[in-house]
Formats: sequence, structure tokens, C-alpha cells
Amino acid sequence: MVKKIIKNLTTTFRVNKSYKQWPGLIKAYKKWLPVNDSTPIITLQEGGTPLLELKSINEIIGKNVKVYAKYDGLNPTGSFKDRGMTMAISKAKEEGCEAVICASTGNTSAAAAAYAKKGHMRSYVLIPDGYVAQGKLAQALVYGAEVLAIKGNFDKALEIVQALSEKYPITLVNSVNPYRLEGQKTAAFEIIDYLGEAPDWLCIPMGNAGNISAYWMGFNQYFKAGLSKKLPKMMGFQAEGSAPLVIGKTVKNPDTIATAIRIGNPVNKEKANIVKEESKGKFTSVTDNEIINAYKLLGNKEGIFCEPASASSVAGLIKLKNEIPNNSVIVCVLTGNGLKDPDCAIKNNDAVFKSGIDPDLNKVAENMGF
Ligand code: F0G
Repeated sequence: MVKKIIKNLTTTFRVNKSYKQWPGLIKAYKKWLPVNDSTPIITLQEGGTPLLELKSINEIIGKNVKVYAKYDGLNPTGSFKDRGMTMAISKAKEEGCEAVICASTGNTSAAAAAYAKKGHMRSYVLIPDGYVAQGKLAQALVYGAEVLAIKGNFDKALEIVQALSEKYPITLVNSVNPYRLEGQKTAAFEIIDYLGEAPDWLCIPMGNAGNISAYWMGFNQYFKAGLSKKLPKMMGFQAEGSAPLVIGKTVKNPDTIATAIRIGNPVNKEKANIVKEESKGKFTSVTDNEIINAYKLLGNKEGIFCEPASASSVAGLIKLKNEIPNNSVIVCVLTGNGLKDPDCAIKNNDAVFKSGIDPDLNKVAENMGF
């Protein structure tokens, strides 16, 4: 009798066998990627991230529009960079490379450091001193990168690492590395695999503009293979103080609360402009206030904690509300996890926080309003 109950319990609680572990994006999308049987796959099982319907945003927009978030902050190091890094590091390993380098506003450095270690390589990261969110810096340090903080912005750091990688035997893993975009394009595949069709709009933050170019490549590959019948309009968003792609010229001193996209001279600008033209999309800027409003809304209406740069996709969508056609399906890319930037979270929320309360039941109850 007892045995039978235990057997029933274990059968009931054992995971449904049809849910196998996600294998990581290289294995999942191998035939779409420039890998072969001898490519060592360096993976932390990135990709396969959720597409969540944002009902509160649907309500703001109305018009029977369905808005989803591609929550890429749930990747292993907390950002979409893992998609590109599994490819870049696997290919670097295949080519016999022993060290990698990148410039970063934080997320690339976290991903490069983690994947380099997984592949037994050294990693060097150049960051703008004082402008990298705490969580990202902590990651690079814990993953054992050699961190070099320069007295200059991201654009300057990128210039330096590009030159270093030409001069020394070290592989550059910024988004000028074509394998990065190959990995990142898989997010577009996942969206179509889930929705059964491409969305009408893809809303995405832009910094160096690698990700928007990668998504466009992914959408086009599925479209050409007959796996979707349409292509989305690519809607790119930048922060107002850091919007070179919106104003059409380099910004010397970019400035925004969204430090991830604090970039004045995007290295993929030509590619991004082609994406805009081909997709009949649009680039728009959003203010830091609009970013923070969307950031809070995602947190306290949807239970989604993303970093400020990521919230610019939702802020932008809300800004363009009147231009959205009825019955559209829209995907906003949430590129990074909110835990990356705890300082921003603590300064920008509408929560109730009372401190210094006596450890006494009655006092606590009183503070709860009872
Ligand atoms: N969102 C987040 C959270 C990012 O970290 C970045 C870029 C972007 C959006 C923009 O993507 O550059 O492909 O247009 N972060 C880079 C970094 C620059 O160093 O981590 P992009």
C-alpha cells in the first residue's frame, strides 16, 4: 500500500518527459548556422527564451493589438549577448584562439567573460570607467575577465579593441565579429517558431545596432525558406541623449540613464539603415523619462524586470501608439535583465519601502496599515 502511494507520487511529480532540456541555440538551429561537426560547441544553453504577452500594454494601445515581449534577459548571463557569444566563442575555439577581447557597456563583457571561461580562454574587456551598471561589472569580475576601465566612452573603447585585435593574436568578439550576428539571429527564428508567423512590428533598442541587423537576417532567412509569409517592420529605438541613428549623425558625448545603449557612433550604422529601408521601418528616440515609465510599467504590471535600455522598446511602442495598425501583432525585445542595474531599480520605483521598524508584531502590523 505504502509502496503504491510512493510509486504514484513519484509518477505524478516526475517532470513530464516530453519537456526535454533546451539544448542551447547552436544545437537547436544548427542547420541555419555556420557550424560543422568539428566545431566545438561552447554553450551555457542560451536561447529558448519566453515570449510573453503584455496584456497591460495591449490595453494601453487598444485597437485589438497583441503585444509580446521577447524576454532575452533570461539568458544565462542575463542578456541577448549570450546568443552571439556562444557562436563567436565556439568559432574562436575552432580556429584555435586562446584569448578574446571586447569593448562593452557591460553586457557584452559579461557574456564574453562567461563563454571564454567555459571554452578555457582568457578574456579582456574594455569598459567606460564609471558607466557600467554594477551587476554587469560584478559578472565580468566573477567570470574572471581581465577588466580594463578606460577614461573614455564606449566608442573610444571599441576603437582601441579593434586596433588591438589587428595588432595582437586576440579575437575581437564585439558585434563586428560576424558570428555574433549569426547567433543573435536565432531570436527571430524563435519568435516565428512560436507565433507561427513573423510579427507586424519588431520593436528593439539600438546601441551599436548589431541586434537589429541580426534579427533582420533571421527574419529574412525564415521568410526565404517559406517559414513565414511576411516580414516585420523593424522599429528601432534609442535614448534621446544618445540617438545617432535617429538624428543621422555621430553624438560626441552620448548621455542616458540606459547605459547599455550609451553609444554615439554605432559600428553597424550602415547595416541598420539598410534594415530600416528594406523593412519600411522607423527609428525613433525616447526620453529617459519615457524609458523609466515603461520600465516601471513592465515591473509592476507584468512582473517583468528588465534593464532600462530594454524598456526603450516598450517606451517607443507606446510613443508610436497612434501609428500602429489595428489587429497588429507586435514583439518588443527585452534585451537585458533588470538585476543588471540595481542602482537604477532602487532609484526608480513606486514601491512602499519603510525602514527602521522595530522587530515587534504590533509595530509591523501597524506599518502594514492594520
Ligand atoms: N540592450 C542591451 C541591454 C544592451 O546591452 C545593448 C548593447 C543593446 C540593447 C543594444 O544592442 O548594440 O546590438 O544595438 N550592449 C553592448 C554591450 C553595446 O557592450 O553590452 P546593439
